[in-house]
Amino acid sequence: MHVVVIGAGVMGLSTALCIHQRYHSDLQPLDMKVYADRFTPHTTSDVAAGLFQPYLSTSDSSPEMDWSQQTFDYLLSQIHSPDAEKMGLSLTSGYNLFREAVPDPVWKDLVLGFRRLTPRELDMFPDYSYGWFNTSLVLNGKSYLQWLTERLTERGVQFFLRKVESLEEVARGGADVIINCTGVWAGALQPDPLLQPGRGQVIRVEAPWMKHFIITHDPERGIYKSPHIIPGIQMVTLGGIFQLGNWSVVIDDQDRDTIWKGCCRLEPTLKNARIVSESTGFRPVRPQVRLEREQLPAGSSNAEVIHNYGHGGQGITLHWGCALEAAKLFGKILEERNMSGKPPSNL
Ligand SMILES: Cc1cc2nc3c(=O)[nH]c(=O)nc-3n(C[C@H](O)[C@H](O)[C@H](O)COP(=O)(O)OP(=O)(O)OC[C@H]3O[C@@H](n4cnc5c(N)ncnc54)[C@H](O)[C@@H]3O)c2cc1C
Ligand SMILES: *[C@@H]1O[C@H](CO)[C@@H](O)[C@H](O)[C@H]1NC(C)=O
Ligand SMILES: *[C@@H]1O[C@H](CO)[C@@H](O)[C@H](O)[C@H]1NC(C)=O
Ligand SMILES: *[C@@H]1O[C@H](CO)[C@@H](O)[C@H](O)[C@H]1NC(C)=O
Ligand SMILES: *[C@@H]1O[C@H](CO)[C@@H](O)[C@H](O)[C@H]1NC(C)=O
Repeated sequence: MHVVVIGAGVMGLSTALCIHQRYHSDLQPLDMKVYADRFTPHTTSDVAAGLFQPYLSTSDSSPEMDWSQQTFDYLLSQIHSPDAEKMGLSLTSGYNLFREAVPDPVWKDLVLGFRRLTPRELDMFPDYSYGWFNTSLVLNGKSYLQWLTERLTERGVQFFLRKVESLEEVARGGADVIINCTGVWAGALQPDPLLQPGRGQVIRVEAPWMKHFIITHDPERGIYKSPHIIPGIQMVTLGGIFQLGNWSVVIDDQDRDTIWKGCCRLEPTLKNARIVSESTGFRPVRPQVRLEREQLPAGSSNAEVIHNYGHGGQGITLHWGCALEAAKLFGKILEERNMSGKPPSNL
């Protein structure tokens, strides 16, 4: 069985690992390759603040809710593992702030210790009058991608720096199954009018005194357009930019100003923080994640594609649930081809 995974962001590498863990003992040999034209630290997944954070708009019955839950449970089960530090994983707590009362989110029981803010807590944030406190998880993209790469390398998976021009080209190269985890660039290979870049810009600062995340919400302006401060394992990420349809990679002065002023107003001590880096990235925005099988048009091969892209601003939050789902689709292909040694357990 020859499997090619396109993409080396959080989706590509976690999907590769999930499939390898579940099926390598059934498939001897399972030959797996990862093709990507960017590797860590140059992917979108490296730019992410890495907070586990489902959209407020997530509905109770959506697949995103299940994928978030599976990812949270998986990461929480790793929190005391000796690998947690290398994965860039830690617990984190903090505030979500609003200017008026809002209904509780559907995922309030998915996170730990969700509660509404008390008046004394709100006194710390004079611009806001309502909010939540909870404990969540943060996963540092760069550390996690390195950790995934090490796990895959140990398993004999090979990596190739290569831009894929078409799925057919990969199929002709002998791939039986192609896993498409190309993020925001998926549209370049096969037009997808539903997929758009959601440009973000972030400032990373050294501010070890910041122990809590602070996320403000402005429902009128829309998601991620108001200031947020997210402490990670080493750095604190400051953000608040979301520009749909904008492909500019340039670090913009005006955006920097918006982020800096917004975050310093929220947390004045940041004025003393040392700026370490600035980056831009494109959230792969799509009304829904595309996670499905597709048979390549008949011709030279009977390769199958599993698409797994379009995770918007919540790729870290959804990644493991989506990897499990992609692995399930992979298992169905094996069954249909009479290649599965034993029925996959616990999927
Ligand atoms: C500013 C910002 C902050 C964010 N914060 C968070 C957060 O706190 N929490 C959260 O859950 N999410 C966050 N996100 C969203 C998250 O970063 C994305 O959803 C996630 O990184 C998408 O992962 P991916 O693997 O699909 O894409 P990417 O990381 O972009 O990886 C795509 C891969 O595909 C490869 N590729 C694409 N096309 C080709 C081709 N033709 N040939 C070869 N290779 C190709 C690329 O080289 C790359 O390796 C944030 C995003 C931004 C921009
Ligand atoms: C806590 O609430 C915020 C609200 O958006 C959310 O971003 C964060 O993910 C929540 N915690 C967890 C564990 O989900
Ligand atoms: C991945 O899927 C998207 C959407 O169908 C498509 O545009 C793109 O060409 C695919 N990329 C690869 C490498 O398969
Ligand atoms: C894209 O964003 C940059 C930086 O914010 C800005 O200068 C530019 O005008 C934007 N372009 C479009 C087409 O919106
Ligand atoms: C798989 O096995 C079943 C039952 O033995 C058979 O009917 C089917 O044709 C096989 N499929 C393939 C693709 O070989």
